Amino acid sequence: MSCQYEITQQTALPVNQQLPESLTWLQEELSTVISDNLFRPVRIRSGRQLSTVTLNGLPLINFGANDYLGYAGDARLVRASAKGACAEGAGAGASPLVSGHSNLHDTLGKSLSLLLGTDDSLIFPSGYAANTATIACLAGPGDLIVSDAHNHASIIDGCRLSQADVRIYPHRNVTAAAEILQTIPARRRLIVTDSLFSMDGTIAPLADLAQLAHDTQSMLLVDEAHATGLFGAHGSGLIEAADIASSVAVRIGTLSKALGSAGGFVSGHHTLIEFLRHRARSWMFSTAHPPASAAVAIESINLIDKEPFRRQKLAERAFQFRKKLTDHKINIGDAEAHIVPVFLKTPQEAVEIAASLARDGFFVPAIRPPSVPRNSSLLRISLSYIHTQDTMNALSDSIINFVGMRHE
Ligand SMILES: Cc1ncc(COP(=O)(O)O)c(C=O)c1O
Repeated sequence: MSCQYEITQQTALPVNQQLPESLTWLQEELSTVISDNLFRPVRIRSGRQLSTVTLNGLPLINFGANDYLGYAGDARLVRASAKGACAEGAGAGASPLVSGHSNLHDTLGKSLSLLLGTDDSLIFPSGYAANTATIACLAGPGDLIVSDAHNHASIIDGCRLSQADVRIYPHRNVTAAAEILQTIPARRRLIVTDSLFSMDGTIAPLADLAQLAHDTQSMLLVDEAHATGLFGAHGSGLIEAADIASSVAVRIGTLSKALGSAGGFVSGHHTLIEFLRHRARSWMFSTAHPPASAAVAIESINLIDKEPFRRQKLAERAFQFRKKLTDHKINIGDAEAHIVPVFLKTPQEAVEIAASLARDGFFVPAIRPPSVPRNSSLLRISLSYIHTQDTMNALSDSIINFVGMRHE
């Protein structure tokens, strides 16, 4: 179905196209972005987020979405969205603190708590907002935050906002984290980690971090953005799979990836949620996310319960995909799930190989700084239940061909 809206507004102000003198420095900054091969064009997607997407008019098999279970374009969720909007309107109208917290948000909180086995949950406009506000609420001046070097930008920004003493430990190195916790004095301590890392597809050493939190009387915050719906017998995430639920003080996640919707959440003990309702600034001072998005997430949580075969199939196919790449000496680092990086030498190489893959019909984003540290670049392949084994095979053949050719 096509959905073209025409702009019908009558008033159009004359455009002032002069770049203000005070902003001319931006041109120089942008030139550097371009010459460093770090420019990111805007791609316009037409139609739903499905296994094939049309980007700038070109249909491509989509390996660039976090729609791991294939729910974002699912007709059942599209209907849930329409039903939610009919019941509770297009916009939430106010912050949750005032009158934006609707019946659907309330039901979603309960549904998330059931999925995660927690007391209570709080819905944020995005996962980014959930991380920044929550971390800044839990730590402040005089406190210590110990954070993995590969944590997501929203965690990094939350740490900065907190004004706590922030120490970064090398990726997944629990010994280094322990050393920091044992040597730096602090009023309170917070350990923060992604559970499945968004760029390199590795899994955090959750059991060891849980033990460390216990030994050092630290709060443990785990961001399950890329794991919710995908791991554990009930599909709640890697905390369930590692059997450490009772050791995780704060669980953060997003509705925007496997759940196919939008928005973020924090889940945990009732006291934590009550505290955040009185302190978390992005919950208090930002309009609640649309009720239709809450309806979508409620429905996708129901589907995660009913359709465990989706996560199981994805895990099997992802294993085969990774194995084939490593058998052909493609550098995927220590990836161990449905996010598969292909590490490359330069941003230019990443851009060129992504362009070659697009000519073969695949959309695979080239990830460059600042999404990854300086001097690193990669192709980030997001595998989804809606990719068949044949499609994944075709992509791995192309990667082996293009990357192999350059690295011989
Ligand atoms: C680990 C992690 N946390 C949080 C977020 C932010 O989630 P959202 O897209 O809902 O803002 C992301 C998004 O990519 C992420 O990768």
